Amino acid sequence: MTDVADRATAGFRQEFGEPPAGHWAAPGRVNLIGEHTDYNDGFVLPFALPLRTVAAADRQEGARWTVWSELSGETISFGADEVDEPGRVTGWGAYVAGVVWALRDAGHDVPGARFAIASDVPLGAGLSSSAALEAAVLTALVDLGGLDLPADRQPRLAQRAENHYVGAPTGIMDQSASIRCRDGHALFLDCRTEGVEHIPFDLRAAGLAMLVIDSHAPHRHADGEYAARRKSCEAGAELLGVPALRDVTIDQLDAALARLDDPETRRRVRHVVTEDQRVLDTVALLRAGRVREIGPLLTASHVSMRDDFEITVPEIDTAVEAALAAGALGARMTGGGFGGCVLALVEAAAADSVAAAVTAAYAERGFTAPGTVTVLPAPGATRLD
Ligand code: GLA
Repeated sequence: MTDVADRATAGFRQEFGEPPAGHWAAPGRVNLIGEHTDYNDGFVLPFALPLRTVAAADRQEGARWTVWSELSGETISFGADEVDEPGRVTGWGAYVAGVVWALRDAGHDVPGARFAIASDVPLGAGLSSSAALEAAVLTALVDLGGLDLPADRQPRLAQRAENHYVGAPTGIMDQSASIRCRDGHALFLDCRTEGVEHIPFDLRAAGLAMLVIDSHAPHRHADGEYAARRKSCEAGAELLGVPALRDVTIDQLDAALARLDDPETRRRVRHVVTEDQRVLDTVALLRAGRVREIGPLLTASHVSMRDDFEITVPEIDTAVEAALAAGALGARMTGGGFGGCVLALVEAAAADSVAAAVTAAYAERGFTAPGTVTVLPAPGATRLD
């Protein structure tokens, strides 16, 4: 049995001795462009991957949640006491407990439930396996309990689970992507208003392919560095007297930079302001059906992450350089940084040769071989049955 929903069902039957009431699936994501802009109230443009996490679930009596996970092979169980005290449930269970906590904290009457979780979203690859888990559990609980929580309000809640229960200071992009993306589209999200526009992103019709290259680079200090970047951005906004860096437009950038003494803060601010503009430019091109022309924006985003935001690592830069040298129209790291994946926009016919060129460059540098796969934008979280 290889299908992820079948694996969740099998786990549920084995653990709980009966079939589940239903299945809820939520995808991982890649971000086409707009990195580290979400917590600056800016713009992002992710799309959902065809890789999903599935929660097979049903209700159980009382305020108790029991969860089996394929990945660890263990079952954990917690009650309201553990949920109501962030930090009591740790490890992967914290994402589940965090969702229950965030729902209860928002005043919802959360039903007790049993879950079996299976997933095709790889862990640690920067493809938002944690948001996929949160979204699968959240949508299951909303349906099982008949909770009044429409999809557009769910990402903020899942983000609170991650920020307050798990303790990771992430923005709202990953949860929004997992919950709100649409098949064949990228999600243009304004992270301040949470307004979205579904932008058609038909790679096939344009004769293009999107290569996802898993750098297999170990995440070095990613959590601490992420928090440090966030702090620098907040400090920059404060020095500039704006609520968030989103409030500095590209036309105001030079004047804003001239007011900042610290060169590091200047670089961080420049990344965020130019990156927001690159998202807007990418959206304009995609709206006009000019998909091929977004390549240089992707590459410029990478250069900005490498030189101004300083969140890339040698494996990542090697993948981008090798992909571009082999003819990719554009390439960039996607996600939080310090490892994870690179996206390369390529002519469909060139996908294999670009992947081979990256693999060869890795071998030459003595890096662990990368993973390479082409992807198309897939649907967001949904109930399967
Ligand atoms: C991680 C976070 C997101 C976002 C990205 C960077 O994926 O979870 O909120 O900040 O990094 O764009």
